[in-house]
Amino acid sequence: MNDTIHSMHAHRSIRRFTDEIVPREHILEATKAGQAAATSSAVQSYSALHITDNEKRQAIADLCGPQQKVHDCGAFFVICADNRRHMVMHERHARTFDQRLEAFLVSVIDATLFAQNFTLAFESMGYGTCYIGGLRNDLHAVNDILKLPDGVFPVYGLCVGHPNEQPIARPRLAPEAILHENVYPDDDTIMRDIESYDEVYRAYLQARGAAPANWSDAMLKRFEKVARPALASFYESQGARID
Ligand SMILES: Cc1cc2nc3c(=O)[nH]c(=O)nc-3n(C[C@H](O)[C@H](O)[C@H](O)COP(=O)(O)O)c2cc1C
Repeated sequence: MNDTIHSMHAHRSIRRFTDEIVPREHILEATKAGQAAATSSAVQSYSALHITDNEKRQAIADLCGPQQKVHDCGAFFVICADNRRHMVMHERHARTFDQRLEAFLVSVIDATLFAQNFTLAFESMGYGTCYIGGLRNDLHAVNDILKLPDGVFPVYGLCVGHPNEQPIARPRLAPEAILHENVYPDDDTIMRDIESYDEVYRAYLQARGAAPANWSDAMLKRFEKVARPALASFYESQGARID
């Protein structure tokens, strides 16, 4: 295993941090590493908003769940899919910018490629990280705080800081359940892979000292309820077209 792959496998989400801050030079270093990720036709449609204002951070932490780590970690970022610079550029050149689903999707894909490189760079420096999808609980309220202009779409937050816990790694599905050759597997094969993973997952929870439960039960609960129904209205209010 080479060093890069080793550091990828060392990933665990960190949810408890010491109160040390993250120096600006480390943030810039990670930003440059994030930017080194591939980007669709070099569009680079993403931004990371570093939230240093204490009141804003606490208000966002409350909206994310609450998730106090959003306030307490060394540095907190709002990762945005960002078509603003393209909109401004088009406007200044008296051209129209087509905001349909393709442009939105490209910006979310680009933001995510940036975010994962950004995260890996921090982890390689010894920091712990945790993505915060809870940011999307109420984006209208988040934007009352951030006042982002049209074309800027927050997609998740990211906590970074010195770890104050050492969780064991959360196992993943078997690689054979993910990697297929030429033909997509039939439903019985999919179910067999899920059942095998349920066993691994129960053992993981037990090792963590938690009540053993199936991954599949957690997923059934997660996807049967309507999640964050206001997302489309928020992204459309920021100028996205979901068509
Ligand atoms: C986009 C995204 C959003 C997430 N949102 C949250 C969150 O709001 N709160 C949290 O504690 N963890 C969050 N996580 C962390 C996941 O729960 C975690 O990555 C997953 O359980 C796998 O565990 P691991 O990262 O330790 O391997 C998020 C992860 C991703 C990729």
